[in-house]
Amino acid sequence: MSEKLTLPIRPRRNRKSPAVRGLVRETTLRPEDLIYPLFLHDEEQNDAIESMPGLYRWSLAGLVEEVGRAREVGVRAVVLFPKIEEELKSSHGEECYNADGLVPRAIRAIKKQYPDVAVITDVALDPYNSDGHDGIVVEDDAGELKILNDETVEILCRQALCHADAGADVVSPSDMMDGRIGAIRAALDAVGHEEVSLLSYTAKYASAYYGPFRGALDSAPKAGDKNTYQMDPANRREALREAELDVAEGADMLMVKPAGPYLDIVRDLADSFAIPIAAYQVSGEYLMIKSAAADGWIDEEKVSMESLLGIKRAGADMILTYFAKDIAARL
Ligand code: PBG
Repeated sequence: MSEKLTLPIRPRRNRKSPAVRGLVRETTLRPEDLIYPLFLHDEEQNDAIESMPGLYRWSLAGLVEEVGRAREVGVRAVVLFPKIEEELKSSHGEECYNADGLVPRAIRAIKKQYPDVAVITDVALDPYNSDGHDGIVVEDDAGELKILNDETVEILCRQALCHADAGADVVSPSDMMDGRIGAIRAALDAVGHEEVSLLSYTAKYASAYYGPFRGALDSAPKAGDKNTYQMDPANRREALREAELDVAEGADMLMVKPAGPYLDIVRDLADSFAIPIAAYQVSGEYLMIKSAAADGWIDEEKVSMESLLGIKRAGADMILTYFAKDIAARL
């Protein structure tokens, strides 16, 4: 029974101890790989977000404190998502380029306290749009909802300028309108903001995984869906096409979103383009781990770490994740 195999090659030798496993480890996660998405509102108190356990809609003061706590554990980049009061929303979302709006005030507050933290902003109309879409909505003669591309891009340019003026390090268009990267680049450069970076949501899929996020911000579409601008989850080559355009238009970094169910797209872009790739582990991915862990079915610490390692291994240079602060603290 104790027959000896003749096996000159035994892969298990490379797994025999923590030290050896450490030597051969191919992928590592670092706090500086992580981007921490933060929700904010124009209120005095911090409100727990029901659809996203462990997360808050921060007041301005609370936001700055949370940035400080994340920075303490090594997270050096945040991305801001505002909840805008209903009465400030409009069909053209003009509030999105109000220089005294919530986001510009937040950027200034963070940069004042923590100038070394990279502040990234989301460029899209949905938090400001009374129709809950990322672009301007009109009804055509047949009563069909249409999202106006070029008119929306004009507003996105103003929004990006407003964020850059307030001190944003990176602006990140998440709207999926055609041509917005080139237009925003030109608008920024025209007024001397050539140092402001563009992180493009290049392959943003029309995903049901965004549900808890829309709950957190009250930003779900009032009618229709986002299928005429966000990508079809069935498509892979289309992501390459989007990426080619974004690179040509001047994007500094490309993003794939969601992350976990789209690892093949992360790998495709990482293999095909010589610019950094970001992946966004979205609200639904976060919530699935959180709720399974809360029920005791999985180990939150291990599964969240493994999920991020998988995203990094697929080729992401950086990851937007709601676990950023917790994970960084454990690295
Ligand atoms: C909006 C935007 C969305 C997310 C980031 N920016 C929602 C959407 O497109 O409907 C989703 C993030 C998440 O689910 O965590 N432009």
